Amino acid sequence: MNNNEIIDHVVVPGTFDPVTFGHLDVIRRARRLFPKVTVGVAASARKHGVGPTFSLDKRVQMIRDALVEEGISERVDVQPFTGLLVGFCEEVGAGGVVKGLRAMTDFEYELQQADLNYHLSPDMESIFVMSSPEYGCVSSSIVRELASLGSDVSFLVPPSVERCLRERFGKGAR
Ligand code: COA
Repeated sequence: MNNNEIIDHVVVPGTFDPVTFGHLDVIRRARRLFPKVTVGVAASARKHGVGPTFSLDKRVQMIRDALVEEGISERVDVQPFTGLLVGFCEEVGAGGVVKGLRAMTDFEYELQQADLNYHLSPDMESIFVMSSPEYGCVSSSIVRELASLGSDVSFLVPPSVERCLRERFGKGAR
């Protein structure tokens, strides 16, 4: 991909531990803007020395199921990846990355990532969509915390993900 080509394929990347209505909102928007979307599920994201709660295979499967449930699976592929995001984009032939911005706090972090990615691969575009206001406070860690405490999470995740949370946290998740 060079910088004169029209972008017809983008990657929506993340850890998706698990996928939430917030992520699905971003995927839905990316799908309206571009003919082809690949959801890139990062394998090894470690936060504070702790790995993801759900295995990579499980996170990929949860997204596939959620896309079907939400009626947005057409033109959307879901693939795991390890290593650099820009490398994955090259591998699948995507010319850009689409991410959601929820608040100013996201902006600083995303700007840093976009800068890094620019230095690694200047032709890859970083594209941002504004998250819908109703999903401004949604994050995967909030979902996991609520589920582990037995709270209802049906307003944050689709039914298939809710079932996985129930399996993972036992009676904790209703
Ligand atoms: N709606 C709801 N939640 C959202 C969201 C949205 N639109 N956007 C982000 N989030 C939440 C996630 O749920 C997650 O919440 P949590 O931390 O409470 O669990 C948090 O924001 C971070 O999202 P995450 O999925 O971990 O993505 P990230 O923005 O940290 O980026 C990668 C993950 C995979 C894109 C990034 O780590 C990456 O590029 N990795 C590959 C290595 C690489 O290339 N590094 C160099 C470039 S930085």
